[in-house]
Amino acid sequence: MTLQKQKQAKMHQNKNQNSLQHVPVLLDAVLKYLDPQINDRYLDLTAGYGGHAKEILKRVGSLAQSVLVDRDLRAIEVLKKKFDGNVEIRHQDFHQAAGELLQAQRQFDLILADLGTSSPHLNEGQRGFAIKVDGPLDMRMDQSQELTAEIIVNNYSEAALTDLLRRYGEEPRSKAIAKAIVEKRPLTRTSQLAELVRDIWPGQYRLHPATRTFQALRIAVNNEIELIEISLPLWLKLLAPGGRIAIISFHSLEDRLVKQALQAQAGVRYDAEVSLLTKHPVVPTPSEIAHNPRARSAKLRAAVKIKKKGN
Ligand SMILES: C[S@@+](CC[C@H](N)C(=O)[O-])C[C@H]1O[C@@H](n2cnc3c(N)ncnc32)[C@H](O)[C@@H]1O
Repeated sequence: MTLQKQKQAKMHQNKNQNSLQHVPVLLDAVLKYLDPQINDRYLDLTAGYGGHAKEILKRVGSLAQSVLVDRDLRAIEVLKKKFDGNVEIRHQDFHQAAGELLQAQRQFDLILADLGTSSPHLNEGQRGFAIKVDGPLDMRMDQSQELTAEIIVNNYSEAALTDLLRRYGEEPRSKAIAKAIVEKRPLTRTSQLAELVRDIWPGQYRLHPATRTFQALRIAVNNEIELIEISLPLWLKLLAPGGRIAIISFHSLEDRLVKQALQAQAGVRYDAEVSLLTKHPVVPTPSEIAHNPRARSAKLRAAVKIKKKGN
């Protein structure tokens, strides 16, 4: 191989490795509120590329009773390499995983859910999440599922698309975008969708005007909101007495569900199950956002399971 070719191969390898990197968000706050202790049993419901998991597992020491979950096969492959078979790794969505763990009567001292997408999702055009890198209209976190963004965009009625963009993207021009989608379909590439939205929102904006449309489609493709809503009560049941849970959300729809689920089980009532550790959500510092812009909308809420007589 010539020197030039070796350099190109190295650059290609580095690019691939960088695209698989994910900087864990609000790591200091996660460590503060979960407060991992030696031999704690850890459940990571969205283990991704193992950024949070690595730091937490380092502190709990024994990995035998910990579980890492992710619905993305690519993330699972990375987790398996990173943790070398020493910890249970499940390729499942967090609702199914929580149900099975409950049935098996498992309990955990530390539970983390860092919701949403990972940087590799957003960096790789092929996955169809990125606005600025062209790719197929895919957006599936679990590559084995059938529903893709392409199916939604090309088959939903104009009314259903309007509703989806408004509900999951809070898109003020949802009607106009849905109309343009129906007129211009079939659409197969992310660049076609991004340009279509740009035509409806001409001008300069801090965020690309298609951000809300992409978010709405991603949430619908992955059934994100419903899965969080039905899973939250199960996560709280999986917490051992004295166990801590931290949940990081990235938009108001998610945060509202998290806040309501924690508040519903908290308080001074005799039947309260948890105490809130965060009165208000913890947000990243400006320096974290400068270092990791993906953290900008993160909000962390945490709670501890109350120890009761007899448990
Ligand atoms: C923000 S990333 C997590 C990053 C991780 N904390 C780290 O430090 O590397 C979110 C991860 O959650 C996964 N995910 C999202 N929804 C899920 C669900 N319903 N069930 C399981 N995993 C899910 C995604 O595939 C993604 O890998």
